[in-house]
Amino acid sequence: MKTQVAIIGGGPSGLLLSQLLHTVGISSIVLERKTKDYVLGRIRAGVLEQGMVNLMRRAGVSERMDAEGYVHNGTVISNADELIELNFTKLTGTPVLVYGQTEVTRDLYEAREKAGGQIEFEVEDVVIHDAKTDAPYLTYTVHGEERRIDCDYVAGCDGFHGVSRQTIPDDVRQEFEKVYPFGWLGILSETPPVHHELIYSNSPHGFALCSMRNANLSRYYVQVPLTDKVEEWSDDRFWGELKKRIPAEVAEKLVTGPSIEKSIAPLRSFVTEPMSWGRLFLCGDAAHIVPPTGAKGLNTAASDIHYLFEALKAHYLEGDDSGIEGYSEKALLRVWKAERFSWWMTNLLHRFPDQGPFDIKMQQAELNFLRDNEDAQKVLAQNYVGLPY
Ligand code: APR
Ligand code: PHB
Repeated sequence: MKTQVAIIGGGPSGLLLSQLLHTVGISSIVLERKTKDYVLGRIRAGVLEQGMVNLMRRAGVSERMDAEGYVHNGTVISNADELIELNFTKLTGTPVLVYGQTEVTRDLYEAREKAGGQIEFEVEDVVIHDAKTDAPYLTYTVHGEERRIDCDYVAGCDGFHGVSRQTIPDDVRQEFEKVYPFGWLGILSETPPVHHELIYSNSPHGFALCSMRNANLSRYYVQVPLTDKVEEWSDDRFWGELKKRIPAEVAEKLVTGPSIEKSIAPLRSFVTEPMSWGRLFLCGDAAHIVPPTGAKGLNTAASDIHYLFEALKAHYLEGDDSGIEGYSEKALLRVWKAERFSWWMTNLLHRFPDQGPFDIKMQQAELNFLRDNEDAQKVLAQNYVGLPY
């Protein structure tokens, strides 16, 4: 098979790129290791920056997002029983949209299918060949049958465990990583959200987050030691712990119920440099991971896709390769800022096993400074709603 852009990975990054390229007549084929249902079965976060919202509109995939997404003008950061209300729209002029990543991925699959987009599922043994030439190609198998795709460019949108990053030689690739000494135990419950905005809680018992999917589907998280197992956490134990970590006035309003999903996710910051090698470009989790505290995972993948789409469009429609040559540098500039914000939010809101009394006082002083200083609130808001592309 032959295509202009071969995309490895049928997650939100790969699908958004394929759809955007389609809108300007650039062909692509998406290779996905799992089935569509498996990909849509993954529970992921759900706060969209304006940049991601604009990209979905640009891709012509915004009808359900605009109809069902919740515009949030702000969020709450709580410090024990104290609530610090941050009004993003007042501080930056820009809100965020609460719309699950699973729904984003579902809408993108629908749009690709409607447009006759080529997606191969359950592919195996994907190998990228000749990325450093002007005629790269992929080989892979589907149910044991060997296949080949000749292309002009390869987009590695295959996540952290994909093949694309590994294709960049060790002596070229530099990796930066920070692993946090705790995880997030998250549940999904068919209960009304406890508050109309998200609440990020710092408490003596550790971090908690109150989030939502819709008017009767809530998402809650509590920080847990990495050694904890999901089986050790009954729903009652979860709700009891959550109530201890959120402000008392909020805990009183909390509607509890059986969890329909429960899982523990480790927290890590990770970046690989460079994000391109010859005609191979890395996007999203294939190149970088953020702890979820800043809601930057999907949104930083989106800015990668924006830069790569604009670069490929300029190449094919204007014969201008400056975007392609500058992709890695441009994407990394914004990636590192998202990494810093996510790392800062994680340090501000979690309790660390090795934290001493002085460290806790530092956290408290930072939270009080945030409460008392509008410029500090503005800086947080600017990062949360999304830095310009
Ligand atoms: N061949 C084909 N597909 C692969 C391969 C491979 N060798 N390896 C991985 N994949 C597929 C995975 O099955 C997955 O569906 O690539 C896809 C990568 O999707 P994501 O992990 O969702 O990554 P991305 O599309 O970049 O989305 C980033 O996902 O994890 C969240 O917080 C993150 O929100 C961010 C978003
Ligand atoms: C979520 O809704 O799952 C969510 C929201 C915000 C975060 C992380 C997760 O920062």
